[in-house]
Amino acid sequence: MNDSLLSFIKSTPLQELPWRYAKERGVSVWIKREDLIHSACPGNKWYKLIYNLVERDQTPDYLISFGGPYSNHIHALAQVGKLLGITTVGIIRGFYADNLTPTLIDCRNLGMELIFVSKNTWKQKDSEQYQLKLKDSYSNAYIIPEGGANSAGVKGCFLIGQSIRRQWNSLVQTNERQNCSPVQVYLACGTGTTMAGVICGLDPTFEVHGISALKGENTLTQAISAFVAELEPASKIKWQVHHDYHLGGYAKITDELVEFIKCFENEHQILLDPVYTAKVLFAIKARIDRGIIREGERVIVIHTGGIQGRRGYDQFNNHV
Ligand SMILES: Cc1ncc(COP(=O)(O)O)c(C=O)c1O
Repeated sequence: MNDSLLSFIKSTPLQELPWRYAKERGVSVWIKREDLIHSACPGNKWYKLIYNLVERDQTPDYLISFGGPYSNHIHALAQVGKLLGITTVGIIRGFYADNLTPTLIDCRNLGMELIFVSKNTWKQKDSEQYQLKLKDSYSNAYIIPEGGANSAGVKGCFLIGQSIRRQWNSLVQTNERQNCSPVQVYLACGTGTTMAGVICGLDPTFEVHGISALKGENTLTQAISAFVAELEPASKIKWQVHHDYHLGGYAKITDELVEFIKCFENEHQILLDPVYTAKVLFAIKARIDRGIIREGERVIVIHTGGIQGRRGYDQFNNHV
């Protein structure tokens, strides 16, 4: 199934973002539109999942993975399963059978089997015992970790970095822009899988900044280092994870963020997801404000999709 799957991956635009706020302060911003990679399954999830399948010699009978009630990853898995004709099973944290979220309704309609588990079972999900139990119940199953966080996921996200590097190089040649400072690539981090892949796909004319969507995620830097060391041990790219822009924690929002998202969407007609990419743009604004990103500097922000998750917030249901 390998080669046919790779043909699903196409190039997404790297667009200059005419963001008044940044422009007025002399900062140039581009946006890599991974939200446009696939209409059914947009964003970084697409790269992680497709690559997980590319790496397999045989088509599995079941694709199994794990996620929360609004999980982009579970939603993407259901879409990819439907597209490829493979049965999917979603192990969901918490009991939502009588109260399905819009994400889970989509998954069920796409044919995914949903299994709801307690916090305790959830904690065991990566244990050998639990995984064996799953394999016993679903023969010829391929089990993908939560968030697609494995080496194949990193390889898939390598393609995002590689695409940015190629597009940027042709942009520089076309416009004859000369500037010695590294181009700053910003993206959201959950497990850090996407960031690790992006780092590996770039070269040292770029530096990479990850904005953690989670509070107190102390192992993120370690996880990214390990993934990078595995795929691109000689990588010389400077990178850093920033832990101070989660706005209170995973999926937490503030009035200021909501206002920011609405203004941004009105200005650019690009939808943002409040959990990941909106916080990245919000962080970039804060860093321009504080003089950390300065006049003359160039920023590329990766839009990693996740728009389906907006349905968890009443604030956005009627907007744009
Ligand atoms: C929309 C979106 N952006 C970014 C991320 C972060 O990706 P990663 O887990 O690879 O760090 C995720 C998932 O966690 C996501 O769903």
